[in-house]
Amino acid sequence: MKGIILAGGNGTRLQPLTFAGSKQLAPVYDKPMIYYPLSVLMLAGVRDILIITRPTELPLFRALFGDGRRLGLSIEYAAQDEPRGIADAFRVGEDHIRGEHCALILGDNLFHGANLPSLLRRSALKNSGCVLFGHEVADPRRFGVAEIDRKGRLVSIEEKPRHPRSNLAIPGMYFFDAQVVDITKGLVPSARGELEITDVLRVYLEQGTAELVWLGRGVTWMDTGTHESLLEAGTFVRDMQRRQGTRLGCIEEIAMYMGYIDPDDCHALGAEMGGSPYGQYVMERARAFSTGMPPTALSEEL
Ligand code: TTP
Repeated sequence: MKGIILAGGNGTRLQPLTFAGSKQLAPVYDKPMIYYPLSVLMLAGVRDILIITRPTELPLFRALFGDGRRLGLSIEYAAQDEPRGIADAFRVGEDHIRGEHCALILGDNLFHGANLPSLLRRSALKNSGCVLFGHEVADPRRFGVAEIDRKGRLVSIEEKPRHPRSNLAIPGMYFFDAQVVDITKGLVPSARGELEITDVLRVYLEQGTAELVWLGRGVTWMDTGTHESLLEAGTFVRDMQRRQGTRLGCIEEIAMYMGYIDPDDCHALGAEMGGSPYGQYVMERARAFSTGMPPTALSEEL
């Protein structure tokens, strides 16, 4: 399975922060925002990843992750010259996907919670069709919204409806089979001029191959696209980390836990940042892992 992190866009709502910088590199407490969606792909078992950014920001992401080898990953980069919509990821990423299944996550979405890693891994194993997620929110009008019947089956998908049929918002994380590239080629831009991901999902729905997985109360989902939500996400990460003594979205630790790198590699990555509490933490986790930290200590958290 291939993975795509969509990390371009205009970032209009975060101006002036985004005039000379990428939203997805903005700090969410102690690490760049993109660490969180990258963690999600890693926990889903996805190691072959394409990061799509604005052309001017591509070198910054490359400087951050290189080819990904240090994390036991393969990371490639592609530029989206204009923000043509979320489904445009499959046009820009067509060569990367090369006929394989693909997970797409938006670069400004943060997920945390019990059961999430196992839920992700199960979704990644689906043989055909697509998996989308549903998360209850107080005001779904800003999101794609899923309607389900009494048996929990998906019956409709609407983009930013004025009168939502449910309060189940669709977060920015999806799993698709290889059809997704061809489906995207058949799309026309919406009234706002974008290739809409909800239109892709609707094709799968019509085929009867779209599966909705409910993210229950145990999972927190945040998108960090406004000043308010960015601050809220940072506060959430700080509070969770303080309470639990573990870090969210720590890609070095996850790489070690998933077996992508060994504890010595992880320790070395931590040592490079040894002057920071983050680096100290990475080194501590590597030491604990080598001395037999029970895997359950990390398996159900991000
Ligand atoms: P949005 O939050 O919908 O758009 P944006 O990031 O440009 O922000 P604003 O609405 O304030 O202008 O995008 C969601 C995510 O998808 C975000 O990580 C940016 C990314 N994105 C792209 O990379 N390319 C695109 O064409 C679009 C529409 C979004």
